Parts: sequence; C-alpha cells; structure tokens
Amino acid sequence: MSAHSPLPPPEEKPIFVRNMFADAARRYDRMNRLMTLGQDQRWRRLVVQACHLSPGGSLLDVATGTADIALEALKQHPDARVIGTDFTHEMMRIGQAKDPDGRIPFVEADALRLPFPDNSFDAACSGFLMRNVTDVAAAFAEQRRVVKPGGRVVCLEITRPATPVWRDIFHIYFFKLVPRISAFFSSNKDAYDYLPHSTLAFPRPPQLAEIMQAAGLKNVTWRTMMLGTMALHVGEV
Ligand SMILES: C[S@@+](CC[C@H](N)C(=O)[O-])C[C@H]1O[C@@H](n2cnc3c(N)ncnc32)[C@H](O)[C@@H]1O
Repeated sequence: MSAHSPLPPPEEKPIFVRNMFADAARRYDRMNRLMTLGQDQRWRRLVVQACHLSPGGSLLDVATGTADIALEALKQHPDARVIGTDFTHEMMRIGQAKDPDGRIPFVEADALRLPFPDNSFDAACSGFLMRNVTDVAAAFAEQRRVVKPGGRVVCLEITRPATPVWRDIFHIYFFKLVPRISAFFSSNKDAYDYLPHSTLAFPRPPQLAEIMQAAGLKNVTWRTMMLGTMALHVGEV
C-alpha cells in the first residue's frame, strides 16, 4: 500500500484484497446487512433471477465469498448445479458452514483464471467482485468463456449515483459512515479506506456496459437500484 493512495498498486491488489477478505470473513455477513440497511439479500435475489436459469441449469457464482448468491440460486432453483468459486478460502469456509448438506462445490480460484473448460455453465454471476480485480475486462471475458452460447453473465456492483444530491449523500455515507461501520468490525484501517475509494475509482454503469461489450458480451443491459448506488448488469454470450 502506498503512503499516498488508499488503493493498492495493481501488482499488490490481489494479495491486499485476499488478506482483507480473509480478515473480514467471520464478520462479513453482519457487516453487509448493516451497511446495506438489510437490502443486500434482495439484490442477490435479483442477480439469480437475471441469470434466467432453466430447470436443471448450471450456474457459476464467481467470487462467491460466503456463498449468499449461490445459496439463493439453490433456493430459487433447487435442482440447479451451482458452483461457488473465490480466491479467499476463509470466506468460502463460512459459506460451506451455511451449506451443511454440501450441495455447493467450492473451488478456490482466481476470477481471472477460472479452472473450468469453455462453455461449462448456463450462466455466471458475480456480486461485489469487479471493483476488486486488476482487470475488469479480463474477468468478464473469463466468465463469457465458461458460459455456453445463449447463456448470461450477470454482475452486481456498487456504483456512484449520477444525480448531484444523491451523489453528495452517497459521498458522505461512503466516506464518513462506512469507514466508521468498518472500524467497528475491523482494526484494518486500509480495508475501510479501500471500500469508498475503490467505489469511486470504478467505472460508472454505461462505461461498465462498454467494458462488458468489449469483453465479447452481447445485448448488455443494466439497471440501478437503491437510489442509484447499486448496478445490476446483464450480458449475453
Ligand atoms: C465483497 S465480497 C462478495 C462476496 C459475495 N459475492 C457476496 O455477494 O457477498 C468479494 C469477494 O470477491 C473475492 N475476490 C476478489 N477478487 C478476486 C479474484 N481476483 N478472484 C477470486 N475471488 C476474488 C474476495 O475473496 C471476496 O470473497
């Protein structure tokens, strides 16, 4: 971490991100509910719906973390084949404990090098991953590669609102309140500075849609939620 920037340089980012989530794993779910005012599970339901899984379909939940999207997918589609992958095993260990019947295979892997053959899944999704990768286009290209033609790639991520008033409120929330909530859960100051600054540095929804298209996804659409602070993007393979 540089002394001047709250964001790690690209070559240090993967290890920084992994350490941050390994440290936060046990508190992650509680922190999520609190920071999103209990809305996060609703957004995960929308992610799964946007995947358009058919009966018996297959879904790769990239950066599954504590597996809330993967579990939601099995709730909506009990006969689906759902795999969770992430490079932080401490996060997936919490997810495994929430799946006592072992319905979800958890695979430790980097989202930029998914260990699956081409055309393996009917859909791939990610929740709150893309801000954390060093190459967003490459992460989408990997998901496109492992999804079958006609399948979907779905992305949920925090975004900055476009309207001036909400932009100011968002700024105050993210830069003043979020670090305090994070500080309550963690002693890692770098981690709670990282969340607002990585959000500020992340492409806005139209630019993210362009990146998805450049990564080979078609018919890209998006919607924003929670007063323009969450974006749900969908692309087709
Ligand atoms: C904010 S959590 C989101 C977890 C989960 N998707 C959710 O909805 O709560 C971000 C997750 O992305 C994972 N992650 C970040 N960069 C990654 C990468 N390059 N490859 C694999 N996982 C990554 C982290 O380990 C962490 O579990």
